[in-house]
Amino acid sequence: MLELLRQENVNPSLIEGIEEYRAKYPASPQQQARIPHPRYPYYGREIWEQAAAALLCGANLLLAGGKATGKNVLAENLAAAFGRPEWDVSFHVDMDAAGLIGTDTFEGGQVVFRPGPVCQCAREGGFGILDEINMAKNEALAVLHAALDFRRVMDVPGYRRVELDPATRFIATMNNGYAGTRELNEALASRFVIIQMPTISPEGLEKLLSGEFPTLEKKYLKQFAALFLDLQKKCESAEISDKALDLRGLLDALRLIRQGLKAGPALDMGISNKVFDSYEQGLIRDVIAARIPAGLDRSRLFAD
Ligand SMILES: Nc1ncnc2c1ncn2[C@@H]1O[C@H](COP(=O)(O)OP(=O)(O)OP(=O)(O)O)[C@@H](O)[C@H]1O
Ligand SMILES: [Mg+2]
Repeated sequence: MLELLRQENVNPSLIEGIEEYRAKYPASPQQQARIPHPRYPYYGREIWEQAAAALLCGANLLLAGGKATGKNVLAENLAAAFGRPEWDVSFHVDMDAAGLIGTDTFEGGQVVFRPGPVCQCAREGGFGILDEINMAKNEALAVLHAALDFRRVMDVPGYRRVELDPATRFIATMNNGYAGTRELNEALASRFVIIQMPTISPEGLEKLLSGEFPTLEKKYLKQFAALFLDLQKKCESAEISDKALDLRGLLDALRLIRQGLKAGPALDMGISNKVFDSYEQGLIRDVIAARIPAGLDRSRLFAD
């Protein structure tokens, strides 16, 4: 993992900081099983540096940004780079305090406290990924306030105060555009340092595509990367909405082609069909057709 940071030219003093952190907080054998092995590397030196610096300072990190900007990929990469066990908590409207910190249950005729994911993470010095944090009601999140500020404790009613292990960090993600999200209130936002996640850079995208599709012909790899940039430009100039600017969809389309579909239908399924307005859909198809002929298939795209 640290090798990736070196390849990304991350400032060596930050890498050293991570090494010191790892030496200070080695994971126990039981915790090892929870340390993620990311399927995707995150590409982007500046964001790596900002995120690493924040976590080394002991801050909680909020990754805000559009869809498929690599928020979860980065969060997982960070837990792996820092060598800490990860707890994933997906937020939703019915989330309540018990779902986060834990609840009393009956066990053998006795009431016992069963810790929730945030409580476990806090005790074990884990990395807690608070996914789509703005999906939950702000009131439900109030229980996290003391954990997320200088107090670093959680008061579990009828149980005890749980102090956060010094290695514990929280990384929240949020996407302002998604339906069902709400404004994060100031009290909560104030407890995080916030990174606005950019869309992947052209170089990052080429690295991602060649890592994910090692047998994709170089010429087409460049065309697919350029297609994504074309869509991004159209989006910036407000000619199309950002529904079709979906890196996930582009990767899906390539997988469909590798599976045997022609480029036209595969790119429709991954990209154009995400837009339901027929005029806009036409515009997107034109952008795609200018880069990738609809009849292209696996035999011309992939070397194997
Ligand atoms: N900078 C990047 N480096 C590497 N991969 C990236 C980057 N940006 C996006 N991706 C790719 O985009 C895809 C989606 O990533 P991820 O699930 O982390 O997005 P997200 O920001 O959490 O999206 P959402 O808001 O929809 O949950 C992954 O396949 C990931 O590899
Ligand atoms: Mg996500």
